[in-house]
Amino acid sequence: MPVNLKGRHLITLKDLKPEEIKYLLHLSVDLKARKLTGIKGNLLEHKNVCLLFEKTSTRTRCAFEVAACDEGANVTFLTNSQMGKKESVEDTAKVLGRYYDGIEFRGYSQETVETLAKHAGVPVWNGLTDMYHPTQILADFLTIMEQVDKPLNKVKFVYAGDARNNMGNSLLIGAALVGMHFVALAPKELWPTKELVDEMQVVADYTGAVLEFSEDLDSVENADVIYTDVWVSMGEEDLFEERIKLLKPFQVNMDMLRRTKNSNVIFMHCLPAFHDTMTEVGREIEEKFGLTAMEVTDEVFRSKHSVVFEEAENRMHTIKAIMVATIGNL
Ligand code: CP
Ligand code: NVA
Repeated sequence: MPVNLKGRHLITLKDLKPEEIKYLLHLSVDLKARKLTGIKGNLLEHKNVCLLFEKTSTRTRCAFEVAACDEGANVTFLTNSQMGKKESVEDTAKVLGRYYDGIEFRGYSQETVETLAKHAGVPVWNGLTDMYHPTQILADFLTIMEQVDKPLNKVKFVYAGDARNNMGNSLLIGAALVGMHFVALAPKELWPTKELVDEMQVVADYTGAVLEFSEDLDSVENADVIYTDVWVSMGEEDLFEERIKLLKPFQVNMDMLRRTKNSNVIFMHCLPAFHDTMTEVGREIEEKFGLTAMEVTDEVFRSKHSVVFEEAENRMHTIKAIMVATIGNL
């Protein structure tokens, strides 16, 4: 059966079948190649896209805007809507669905993006909630395809850090779907819920993925990819002290990369990253806790292993693929 994603939402990666992820990744490769040759696209011509943001963003917002513009769509960036204050999510969805062909939402509650999807009547894309960040994972997998000389289902991928946040959850789902060897290297307190793990084990049994949860730093041996994310996600800013205590042993540093015994191991991070003290938060953390970096050292971040900016670029190509596949003139 040929893949057809027209009219579909992307609320969590669980919405996609393995062949649909592969399709989106291949479409991303094609769209990226086309952009690099300078061809102006028209696959989203006459489409209007709404970018609804409760939380801050650099990559996701800009990736959607540039991707839409590249293919001829118009975008509205909406951060001060009536939603939640004077108008319900349901009513907002019904209004926006009459103007727009697709709606991206970034915010707190997963329930909000689900309610938008239920009532908008047009595709809704999750640009990050407390629970999931599905568009990021497509960019991550495209980057691995480009940087690691192995098919995705042969890759050993270690996620070190807060394994129960939106990135930990979404990488687990993505890895299960594409058949990867996935290791969550994290303190037990920060492992994904048993419910999600059990659900993904069923998927893994079908795709051949291996899902591991470990507190042992030696579980990075033979890793192709070491991935991390912030220790304190947006909306959890009162948890720095607790998280630093729990996660300090899992910082990605040169010692962790050496333990992989793979000189070609790549380092990935969805960004933004606390690898130095060049930010307000970074300086506060140094003052309060004496740390000059959190989840990754500056040395690793700037090393030859790091592909974080290639990964950031790929947000745009993969988001373009999602829009083209779900609302485009393909
Ligand atoms: N990775 C990511 O989602 O970045 P932004 O928060 O800048 O959108
Ligand atoms: N876990 C992070 C991801 C940022 C892209 C957060 O939610 O803040």
